[in-house]
Amino acid sequence: MRLVEWTQKYFQRKAVDSPRLSAEILLAHVLGYDRVKLYTNFDETIGHDSLASFKELVVKRGRGVPVKYLTGHAEFMSLDFVVTPDVLIPRPETELLVEKAIELGSGTPAPAVADIGTGCGNIALSVAVGLPSARIWATDISEPALGIAKTNAERVSVAGRIEFLQGDLYEPLRKLAEPAGFDIICSNPPYVPEPQWGTLSPEIRDHEPEIALKAGPDGLKYLIPLIEDAHNLLKPRGSLLLEIGEDQGSRVTAVAARTRAFSAVEVLKDYGGKDRLLVAKGND
Ligand SMILES: C[S@@+](CC[C@H](N)C(=O)[O-])C[C@H]1O[C@@H](n2cnc3c(N)ncnc32)[C@H](O)[C@@H]1O
Repeated sequence: MRLVEWTQKYFQRKAVDSPRLSAEILLAHVLGYDRVKLYTNFDETIGHDSLASFKELVVKRGRGVPVKYLTGHAEFMSLDFVVTPDVLIPRPETELLVEKAIELGSGTPAPAVADIGTGCGNIALSVAVGLPSARIWATDISEPALGIAKTNAERVSVAGRIEFLQGDLYEPLRKLAEPAGFDIICSNPPYVPEPQWGTLSPEIRDHEPEIALKAGPDGLKYLIPLIEDAHNLLKPRGSLLLEIGEDQGSRVTAVAARTRAFSAVEVLKDYGGKDRLLVAKGND
């Protein structure tokens, strides 16, 4: 299709990542098609309004706005999530955390699961779908993010099993009358060291929420309290699952060992072979 080719070239000149894919996804989005239909209907003329909407999106993409913010949707664990610039775009490597949570929770009847820093709710909702008897408590410091997570919970039909709470890390969970401890605590907290901020791609740095990424001088600002305080909220032998940066494995393992609150601690690698997930099993 000529319009896709023209847009691809425009994106190439603007040094946009994945120029062809971006062009196809945006055009399909404006026309309400999937990408295959774009090619089966390639002779179709585009209406004036659709063309105007498409041009608007192309200009924004040319300025580096991520495609998923432009379409307002991101796929995670084969579920469709609404995303806005108030939430981080879910990353495929975070599926490792969800798979592990489902594996660990599947042996427990009605497991109680906490998700700290839920963002668009991708972890909490995917766990709710994977563990149909689970009850989930999902927190975030950001009210707008919680609004998006609630919308997504309605769309995925799991809202009845998830409580959304605003506040700092574990603080909103400490005030709860129940559950009496969590079987699983998960979090993909901010973990980018501030000195590395400038090395991130402009697409991330200029468009995704800083509050979802930046984590103090060493990237451990949130990981350390999440590890140190987990034993106050975990049930005996409950599990703490934390996504980490690829070079943080040995430091978070040392923090977990220092607490003496865990009987087993391991770091799992993502599908790219990088350290990505701390799994710590609480004492009896
Ligand atoms: C890396 S994002 C993860 C979002 C989502 N869970 C995911 O996996 O894509 C971190 C999230 O933590 C939230 N956050 C940042 N500081 C926080 C804090 N002190 N307490 C609770 N949540 C916080 C951010 O608003 C953001 O939604």
